[in-house]
Amino acid sequence: MAILDKHKILETNASLLLIFSFLVVTIGGIVQIAPLFWLENTIEKVEGMRPYTPLELAGREIYIREGCYTCHSQMIRPMRDEVERYGHYSLAAESMYDHPFQWGSKRTGPDLARVGGRYSDEWHVDHMRSPQSVVPESIMPKYGFLEETRIDGKYIQDVMTSHSMVGVPYSEEMLAQAQADFRAQADPDSDYDGLLERYGDKVNVRNFDGQPGISEADAIIAYLQMLGTLVDFSTFTPDASR
Ligand code: HEC
Repeated sequence: MAILDKHKILETNASLLLIFSFLVVTIGGIVQIAPLFWLENTIEKVEGMRPYTPLELAGREIYIREGCYTCHSQMIRPMRDEVERYGHYSLAAESMYDHPFQWGSKRTGPDLARVGGRYSDEWHVDHMRSPQSVVPESIMPKYGFLEETRIDGKYIQDVMTSHSMVGVPYSEEMLAQAQADFRAQADPDSDYDGLLERYGDKVNVRNFDGQPGISEADAIIAYLQMLGTLVDFSTFTPDASR
């Protein structure tokens, strides 16, 4: 076979093999990646998605700081066992405002993509203080210190500004009201109309940790309680045209 004999030239010449391998990988890469730049929308548009509120975003920062992602994923794969355990498989759009995304690659604990609303705030407070008090065999560490650390959202506007620089559609008004919205969400006695106007009626406004003042526990529970709750899956139908 003449053509296979020619292949021998490549196989016996390291530099030539390197150049040709590089060519092949480049072509393969372009074929895979390039269309994504021109497709009208790589991410299916889904109703209900909104940027994180300032308090949720602060909670998300704490989630990342504490390394929760080393034990928890936030992506439900479209396989039957996962869908039955965790709910509807994750949509690309559901992490479109995540910088960085929290899909994770390790599940020492369960997936958290749809943990929002699954437990009460009190359950989360108890679980954070001592996971073993609610799940005796749990190996999750205790995070009780979060409820002792007060936060005031002093820097949350800066965090939101940096998120808007990478494409999260925070409006001028959202940025200007960041600290007020931050405080309003953790205080059901406050005037939170503006917060709901900016982020939608479904935003949870509660004293998440049940204690006066705003703590890191308030922020992280606000974040956990909204995870996976934005898209209404009773009305959602995937777009089959793609
Ligand atoms: C060492 C691994 C580990 C780390 C780190 C960890 N967890 Fe967990 N987590 C677990 C395990 C194991 C479970 C299952 C048992 C239980 O509920 O405690 C769990 C359960 C949970 C649950 C309940 C999920 C469900 O559907 O029942 C939540 C919520 C949670 N973790 C949040 C967090 C948050 C927030 C952090 C970071 C502050 C965190 N975890 C850090 C291991 C971990």
